[in-house]
Amino acid sequence: MNVLVIGGGGREHALAWRLRRSPQVKQLFAAPGNPGIAGIGQCIKPASVDPDSYLQIARSVEADLTIVGPEAPLAAGVVDLFRGQRRRIIGPTRQAAQLEASKVFSKQFMLRAGVPTPRAATARTPEEAKKNLDEFGFPVVLKADGLAAGKGVIIAEDKTQALAALASLPVGQIVVEEFLAGEEVSFIVFTDGDKVIPLEATQDHKAIGDGDQGPNTGGMGAYCDGRILSPEQTQSILGEIIHPTLEQMKADGTPYTGFLYAGLMMTSSGPKVLEYNARLGDPETQALMHRLDSDLVAVLLDGHKPQWRPEPSVCVVVAAHDYPREVRTGDRITGIENSGAEVFQAGTRIGPNGLETAGGRVLGVTASGKDLQGAIDNAYAAVEHIHFDGMKYRKDIGRKGLKRW
Ligand code: AMP
Ligand code: GLY
Repeated sequence: MNVLVIGGGGREHALAWRLRRSPQVKQLFAAPGNPGIAGIGQCIKPASVDPDSYLQIARSVEADLTIVGPEAPLAAGVVDLFRGQRRRIIGPTRQAAQLEASKVFSKQFMLRAGVPTPRAATARTPEEAKKNLDEFGFPVVLKADGLAAGKGVIIAEDKTQALAALASLPVGQIVVEEFLAGEEVSFIVFTDGDKVIPLEATQDHKAIGDGDQGPNTGGMGAYCDGRILSPEQTQSILGEIIHPTLEQMKADGTPYTGFLYAGLMMTSSGPKVLEYNARLGDPETQALMHRLDSDLVAVLLDGHKPQWRPEPSVCVVVAAHDYPREVRTGDRITGIENSGAEVFQAGTRIGPNGLETAGGRVLGVTASGKDLQGAIDNAYAAVEHIHFDGMKYRKDIGRKGLKRW
């Protein structure tokens, strides 16, 4: 079959890389794709970011299956449009994607579904949010309502920081939330609306700095080693979080299909949902696809249970100068070919002198190893081969998993 991937980041490169290995995939396309994907498939620039532009591409390449990576096309209704035309597409409808698009909506939804989540209040203005601060103490978590590419959440340590944060958040509703301590786990399932297929748990590293210091980013690295959750924990997450979520979506008349990502905090009183994403995580997908040992198409279309290689995988994100602030672009990238790892490209483009930086998160350097330490060592050995001016990356990706080995 012909398969189209919508998106052009590291997650989409990893999906394309895995799809390329499927015996069922004849031709592989991506819209818009990126220079990394162009090495294994054909990239087509959509005329606009409208769902209609993607439909035109799917038609022109005779796509039998379309997989949506990022949230924006989902929130714009690309799945609704494709289904209306009887085209097979993996993802939630526009209404189902609201779970991610609005923090206020998803919080109200979790309360309705009885899904464990931190205590929170919704404020319409920064003034109102100020009044809520005392109720929650410090640190406190402030969340902008709308999509913000993982950057609309601020953890304020004290009142001064909270007031500065409130002034910096985009206009709109604000969720003021109780701060929870613990370890975060990315729990992602695939569902066709009936059957639920859990993927292996992964851990992202959201903060820019080692030891989880500094502002949050879209994610600075991830690993997948089969040890993050026990079978009992997985069962309780499915029973207390995933199934109630999918049931409530059905009851609300917006049944969920596609990848559902629960961002969990593992607290002393059990897992709690910090957020839903209506899609696969980035960079979680890079680690997941690297470790997946099954035909991805058979998992998505035939409900095959995914098999995972025993070797853990680690993805280290290499970001541009000044990320997560406004970044510089146009720095020449060298050393990918001989790095010895799978290098999933994200913010890259072809410039006059070859491959160069074009965004915040530039590369996802992904490797496996005989154990987690081995995978970490292999990923960082590969990073050493890569160079561009201003490159920055965390040095501790995967380290929090070592205690389980
Ligand atoms: P979210 O987009 O809601 O997942 O928030 C982004 C990140 O902020 C999360 O991955 C956590 O690292 C952090 N975070 C969000 N909510 C909380 C919370 N209630 N307590 C502690 N950390 C949080
Ligand atoms: N890595 C977190 C996310 O994809 O939202």
